[in-house]
Amino acid sequence: MRAPPSYEELTRNFDWKVAERELGYQPGGPINIGWMCSDRLCHRGLGGKLALVWEDYQGNEKQFTYDDVRVLSNTIARFLSGLGIAPGQRICLFMDRVPELFIGFLGILKMGAVAQPLFSAFGEESLRVRLADAGTSAIITQKKHLYKVRKIREQLPDLQHIILVDAEPASLQEREIAFAMEKNPRIEHFSCYPTTAESPSVLHYTSGTTGQPKGAQHVHYSIISQYLTSKWVLDLRPEDIYWCNADPGWVTGTSYGIIGPWANGVTQVVLDCGFNATRWYEFMEKRRVTVWYSAPTAIRLLMKEGAEIVRQHDLSSLRYLASVGEPLNAAAVLWSQEVFGKPFHDTFWQTETGCIVITNFPGMPVKPGSMGKPFPGITAAALDPKTFEPVDRPGVAGLIALRPGWPSQLRGYWNNQIGFNAKFKNGWYLCGDRASIDPDGYFWFMGRDDDVINTGGHLVGPFEIESALLGCPGVAESAAVAKPDPVNMEVVKAYVTLKRGFQPSDDLELEIMNNIRKRLSPLAMPQEIEFVDSLPKTRSGKIVRRVLRCKEFNEPVGDLSTIMED
Ligand code: PRX
Repeated sequence: MRAPPSYEELTRNFDWKVAERELGYQPGGPINIGWMCSDRLCHRGLGGKLALVWEDYQGNEKQFTYDDVRVLSNTIARFLSGLGIAPGQRICLFMDRVPELFIGFLGILKMGAVAQPLFSAFGEESLRVRLADAGTSAIITQKKHLYKVRKIREQLPDLQHIILVDAEPASLQEREIAFAMEKNPRIEHFSCYPTTAESPSVLHYTSGTTGQPKGAQHVHYSIISQYLTSKWVLDLRPEDIYWCNADPGWVTGTSYGIIGPWANGVTQVVLDCGFNATRWYEFMEKRRVTVWYSAPTAIRLLMKEGAEIVRQHDLSSLRYLASVGEPLNAAAVLWSQEVFGKPFHDTFWQTETGCIVITNFPGMPVKPGSMGKPFPGITAAALDPKTFEPVDRPGVAGLIALRPGWPSQLRGYWNNQIGFNAKFKNGWYLCGDRASIDPDGYFWFMGRDDDVINTGGHLVGPFEIESALLGCPGVAESAAVAKPDPVNMEVVKAYVTLKRGFQPSDDLELEIMNNIRKRLSPLAMPQEIEFVDSLPKTRSGKIVRRVLRCKEFNEPVGDLSTIMED
């Protein structure tokens, strides 16, 4: 077999047109992710191939061929159009990892609407903020999450349709409607809405330092990057059985848990269950998984469970391992080499980039602890934070920046032009992270350049937590910051001042924690609350989280006089 081209060769002659040609896209013509990931593969003779093998915690199982995915996504698309939902309107997917989530995503795109996936563990306040911002018209959900939607529906005038994939019509209220994907009459033919390259496709909410979460807007042309990075970085091949354990409520679960693998026509397996080492290894053994895309927190949890449990399973099918979401420490790479016989390949990217942008390319020597090099077609640099010019010496930390213009780059933040403009400086897109580049061109992650908290690979915005804290009993002011954690890398810690008449106590701490867990999510819940008399502020009264973060990480705060300026 001919050796695959080297990283250097691919970079030298790179053109995104490779992906356009392979996907059969004619520039200027129609392009629809829903169609590309189902009908296109059936036309190429893959209709009978398994697209999705789904299993839940109890071991219930469902299998769908590419033809099933094509027909069922048609069925959903027709149902949604039948409700009167127009192209461009936002439809939220708020479900556990059930088949309707994956296939529904394609159905929404086929009828030209915008898919807005949200993590099903979100509480009503996290949900409300994102649905209100996007002016979402419809939500597709499950009975078990309906109570959260019911709590907020009156505050969401745009929300016209609440669609339940597993409910009996008799149990439903006004504006609620039952839709059973597999029981509905199957729609063989559906004319996809003629979306083109720049038609909006997916709206993914992500957290920043300031303000509520921002909706990163993606377009149908993003599939060009997602297809090619899946093929070249995740090394997907036609015979692969691929498992991405990310939830499509987050960008990894859509770019590489739906679009990338299905655009490549591989069989993907889904396990609808949280972390459980035994269950995960059993699943990979039973399904003969060949390519596994995971995350550092999961790897650290597996490391804690030890190597013996790995040896109890036949994982010889595994060919390629990759990781995303947080720094992949060298120890995790070495451990995986030891127990699986192959390293995890780190991949760096963001909701905003839509695809992997810096990575340990297959075949490229892995330097454990490094993120690797830019994907061909991506120009990345570490910028001096004052001049926004690339730093001139290897090993010097700078801001990770990318030259705009790759296919899956976000096209804007929903309703937030100012926030979007702030991401660009001196002709570069700023990721909001810091890294250094070594003499061989490898990137080494140094940390975030803002106050966003990365807990278990999920970004949580301090402002969202602080706003929710204000609704808790006794809270006068607060600052949410990251605190180091051996497994999740970071967890949320809240510093809180209390209103007159309230005294710090364990009960109050617990009450506040529970309140945030229910209204926002378990991820956003502070793991610790420290009651203080006052918070560090700038001269004009803005809370300076950095001082508290530095305290948690035992780092020097730096020159306080400049920090305290506004
Ligand atoms: O801080 C970086 C971190 O996660 C951020 C992006 O988070 P999100 O938009 O939720 O997307 C996560 C999955 C793509 C980045 O700005 N991050 C992501 N990958 C890595 C990473 N930090 C270090 N190493 C990585 N490989």
